[in-house]
Amino acid sequence: MIFALALVPLALILRDGLTGRLGAEPIRAIQLRTGWWALTFLLITLSVTPLRRLSGWNPFVKFRRMLGLFAFFYAVLHLSNYVGVDQFFAWKEIGEDILKRPWITIGFSALVLITPLALTSTQAMVRRLGKRWAALHRLVYVAAACGVLHFLWLVKKDTTEPATFGLVLILLLALRLRLQARKPKPSAVSQQPSVGNAVTGAQHAEPAPLMADG
Ligand code: HEM
Repeated sequence: MIFALALVPLALILRDGLTGRLGAEPIRAIQLRTGWWALTFLLITLSVTPLRRLSGWNPFVKFRRMLGLFAFFYAVLHLSNYVGVDQFFAWKEIGEDILKRPWITIGFSALVLITPLALTSTQAMVRRLGKRWAALHRLVYVAAACGVLHFLWLVKKDTTEPATFGLVLILLLALRLRLQARKPKPSAVSQQPSVGNAVTGAQHAEPAPLMADG
């Protein structure tokens, strides 16, 4: 059900495109909507762990990987629209945009940062990378911050929306740090029965936030 819901934004973009409802600048409308959804899915993904910890409802975590991959999916659509439709594969101009327009540089950085997270989101990679996996996946906060900055930078007048995204990100990070600080020390944990990871079966402490289950 969540998979189908996550495809609704794409279905609405396609519907609006096919019925001429994307407005006077359809390419820009697609750019804005895919970017908005990429950032939204990133923040939804980041809220999974705090929600699970606060509610005690562990099944939440099953959806984290899928939600993170949807953030990546919408970011790839966002980039593809820019490269293939907006710029029509004008690689020189695209390269110049990335190098010379700071708000594009920062958007590009967000995408570069979430790419390894998507690629290492499988359970096999969680096992193979061990502790390094958790460290790597902390980059999701940097990626989300780059996404927020990208949004803030490109908005000319009303910054309410990107500022709201920024505030949500700060709150999620603060909550995460607070929950982390309240977690029992490793010595205390080793004296308790290990709960482990319901999905991967891994017995490590709570892994980092983004795209892997558990
Ligand atoms: C190579 C990477 C990227 C490029 C070239 C790029 C480019 C763009 C462009 C051209 C726009 C439209 C600006 C306008 O017409 O006013 C835009 C908007 C946006 N992008 Fe990106 N972007 C990139 C990556 C990202 C990523 C990774 C995210 C999210 C994590 C993101 C989030 C957004 C948001 C939220 C908007 C504004 C949406 C709105 O106004 O509702 N972008 N981007």
